Amino acid sequence: MSKLLAWVDDRFPATKVWEEHLAKYYAPKNFNFWYYFGGLAVLVLVIQILTGIFLTIHYKPDSELAFASVEYIMRDVPWGWLIRYLHSTGASAFFIIVYLHMFRAMLYGSHRNPRELIWLIGCIIYVALMAEAFMGYLLPWGNMSYWGAQVIISLFSAIPGIGEGLALWIRGDFVVSDATLNRFFAFHVVLIPLILIGLVFVHIVALHKVGSNNPDGIEIKKVKNENGIPVDGIPFHPYYTVKDIMGAVFFLILFSIVIFFMPEFFGIFLEKDNFTPANPLQTPEDIVPLWYFTPYYSILRANTVSFFWIDAKVWGVIFMGLAIVMFFLLPWLDRSPAKSIRYRGVQYKVWLTLFVISFVLLGYLGLKNPDHVDLFLFRNVIWAQILTIVYFLFFLLMPFYSKADKTKPVPERVSFK
Ligand code: HEM
Repeated sequence: MSKLLAWVDDRFPATKVWEEHLAKYYAPKNFNFWYYFGGLAVLVLVIQILTGIFLTIHYKPDSELAFASVEYIMRDVPWGWLIRYLHSTGASAFFIIVYLHMFRAMLYGSHRNPRELIWLIGCIIYVALMAEAFMGYLLPWGNMSYWGAQVIISLFSAIPGIGEGLALWIRGDFVVSDATLNRFFAFHVVLIPLILIGLVFVHIVALHKVGSNNPDGIEIKKVKNENGIPVDGIPFHPYYTVKDIMGAVFFLILFSIVIFFMPEFFGIFLEKDNFTPANPLQTPEDIVPLWYFTPYYSILRANTVSFFWIDAKVWGVIFMGLAIVMFFLLPWLDRSPAKSIRYRGVQYKVWLTLFVISFVLLGYLGLKNPDHVDLFLFRNVIWAQILTIVYFLFFLLMPFYSKADKTKPVPERVSFK
């Protein structure tokens, strides 16, 4: 074996890669619960690709056959139902994990110097993931697939001047049709997965260049022993490989409970209207995107007034776009001397809490009819307007409150209980 390895090593840096990225990658010894989600995101990416391959074997990307081919997978293909539920539940699990992963960065300042690029690559991954999920959702050719795509693509037509042409170019037709289904299939199955794999690779390469942050927001590379090893670091393998395997087992238990007992998850992971075939002549009662898009959908619908000669709908699209752009700016909006929430003052804590509340409630409202009263006092659209303001204020005021905040002194070494 050692001769074989030496032979490989002379031709390919196998041992070097293993050591640099696992056995001798020194990660901070104080990782906690929040550090499970990066590894879990990789696991779910693998699950999505593997189950996606098996679905593609039986799926037919043709508007006449697509819906029936999914039913065929569910009823006739051996274990087809399991493969499909793994993939549909996997999509929602992916977003839950990525949202928690992003929140961790906001808790511990992982987006800050020197990790801005990791964060930016992460933001691009997030956008690519949204495109992947949106295009995948058209493939079953259910009625919500059809109308969801119709609504979202028509948003592009709101862009002044080029909008109509752009929407036509994306659809490949005047309405969502077989042409749209075919190209979305190509993008969902080939193009975007390739982009995602490439982005995840550079995300991790960038992380290993600067080293991991930790719950104290301290740079462990600043305190090294005589061998040049960070004193607060431990080798990723075996310590964190074992920890991550335990996290993966917990995750797979929860994941299995959903898949086997509640695969539609009360109509949230798979919507009721998607169990009927696409019908261009019958609009579903409420067109709602899947839950992971609903915070942005709420922001889109919250804008009901036209101003500066620009139509309300166009403002909605602009604000929705800006809501995502805000994440890209985060490393430069945050001016606090402390990275981790443990040493920040009360102002950041309050704003971060308000942000999470606004994001969750906007998500909830996005599933509801804007004219109903589902929270209290006001119609949903009024709440969406208030929460949209809170959402943006979290980012726009950050340079001020993060700087003015009274921080605690940051210790030299990580704290570890
Ligand atoms: C397919 C999606 C993604 C995968 C597979 C992935 C994977 C990973 C992995 C394995 C790590 C190291 C382990 C850890 O810190 O948990 C990591 C770290 C990180 N990721 Fe991601 N990531 C994804 C999406 C994102 C997104 C959407 C963002 C932000 C917008 C992001 C921001 C970060 C940051 C800032 C770190 C460094 C964390 C630290 O050192 O404290 N990632 N990612």
